[in-house]
Amino acid sequence: MKGVRLKVCARKRSLRPVFPVVQCRYASTQSTPEPSHKTASFGFKDVPEEEKESLVRNVFDSVASSYDLMNDASSLGVHRLWKDTFVSSLRPGRNGPQKCIDVAGGTGDIALRILDYARENYADRDTTVDIVDINGQMLKEGHRRFKKTMYHNTPQISFTEANAQEMLPEKFPDNTYDLYTIAFGIRNCTSIPAVLREAHRILKPGGVFACLEFSRVGNPILSTLYDHYSFSMIPLMGTLLAGDRESYQYLVESIRRFPPQPEFARMIREAGFMTGDDVDGGAWADLWGGIACIHKGVKL
Ligand SMILES: C[S@@+](CC[C@H](N)C(=O)[O-])C[C@H]1O[C@@H](n2cnc3c(N)ncnc32)[C@H](O)[C@@H]1O
Repeated sequence: MKGVRLKVCARKRSLRPVFPVVQCRYASTQSTPEPSHKTASFGFKDVPEEEKESLVRNVFDSVASSYDLMNDASSLGVHRLWKDTFVSSLRPGRNGPQKCIDVAGGTGDIALRILDYARENYADRDTTVDIVDINGQMLKEGHRRFKKTMYHNTPQISFTEANAQEMLPEKFPDNTYDLYTIAFGIRNCTSIPAVLREAHRILKPGGVFACLEFSRVGNPILSTLYDHYSFSMIPLMGTLLAGDRESYQYLVESIRRFPPQPEFARMIREAGFMTGDDVDGGAWADLWGGIACIHKGVKL
């Protein structure tokens, strides 16, 4: 346990001190939830709402060790360009060091880019990023990766296991962060409004919510090609590279269930954020014709 920062924020105390992750879960997400009659999408299936979280957890438990490799293979490396564009559009550190949170941060792709961007562009070594994810395996991969960077064991980075929909106020107080990022994560959450509510709560007034997510392709030819590629190639690569077709089938299907750009922009506004107009270049910015998309909102 020496050198391991381990804090129990939950009422439940079964923690495995594998690496310095802070676990912050509500007891309600740990005990067997009351069955509801509401459903949530899990890929193309509709499942009882209370089951989605554990199904998603299983997917990411299964893909964690191959996640970075599969990301590169299935997007032919393009996810790196999108993530670079996402982070540079936020210009972290431009107005001085920022307190950032990267939710559904997984293996830390966005957090690493934020810290690198601030350091390389503004010689900023005081910007911090708290990586939050519901999945300990994904965080473990992220932690392993950060060990090879200059940010390891510095106050610039932390790892916390928590649900984006219910972030413990003792650990994530109101009006705390300058920047909230979530990349390819929100579509996996059971309730998008609950995630947005929490994002709004923990951001400072004037703080920025920024989401990178797969979205809707406007051009019908591109859309057909993209559908063909993603439904045939990605599950196949999942089978060949990770021995797991089903998880990658889910990931592709979940993209199609995510709300289109204007609907997601409306949800962001309903959570209390100010956005631009409902056009590409306003409330959102399409990447590669809408295959991916950046949405931003400012807390008033
Ligand atoms: C596709 S990965 C994206 C990881 C990383 N942001 C990236 O861009 O590479 C989605 C992540 O969302 C996390 N996730 C899913 N549901 C979540 C929830 N309710 N709260 C927090 N994280 C969640 C998963 O564990 C997984 O690490």
